[in-house]
Amino acid sequence: MIRIDVLTLFPHVFDSPLSCSILKRARDNGLLEIALTDVRDFSTDNYRKVDDKPYGGGPGMVMMPGPVFDCYEHVRQLSPEKGRTILLSPQGQKFDQAKAVELSREKRLILIAGKYEGFDERIRTGLGAEQISIGDYVLNGGELAAMVIIDAVVRLLPGALGDEDSAKNDSFSEGLLEYPQYTRPEVFRGMKVPEILLSGDHAKIAEWRKQQSLERTKNNRPDLLRKRG
Ligand code: ADE
Repeated sequence: MIRIDVLTLFPHVFDSPLSCSILKRARDNGLLEIALTDVRDFSTDNYRKVDDKPYGGGPGMVMMPGPVFDCYEHVRQLSPEKGRTILLSPQGQKFDQAKAVELSREKRLILIAGKYEGFDERIRTGLGAEQISIGDYVLNGGELAAMVIIDAVVRLLPGALGDEDSAKNDSFSEGLLEYPQYTRPEVFRGMKVPEILLSGDHAKIAEWRKQQSLERTKNNRPDLLRKRG
């Protein structure tokens, strides 16, 4: 059971992914409790303003600390668990499978999604938040990044997937990419399933899969092999 709070300017972005498939089932089964809170509800301005021009000049707008702090303090007392507070930002540490595993062991996550131009630095320092980036590209806001983290974390919760083994065999679980998979039919448009997979020789199949994993990783993600040592 994990509780995830999201502070966002666009709560509706989360509606559809949270109502489908594994995430829906996790919520229905009580593995995941999720609460979306609109930061704009905590604006003290008549126009529900939550951002302003950066001191020192420069383009874009920056999230003001006031509404985020007020929203955060409201969210904090919705549950007694302290959990971890995470700010989604391209300036953060890069999210990966190891981080997903780490976060899936928490009782509570508080994710703060902001506009891409950034947050007033006092939000990070004042709330003691860690920053996470989902990759080296810039999104319009942290919402989809928060959604990516939710998705990757929830599938790791015990009981979230139908088949208990599926998460263990995932790509990255051993630091390698997954081997190629095939299902019926045996021949599709002239393309055959590798003979070895039909052989019933489990040791040979395991060896072939390992070889394929290494080959793919070498070709597509040599950085993973270096990390693995
Ligand atoms: N907000 C904008 N871009 C982002 C990224 N790459 N990761 C996390 N949050 C973001």
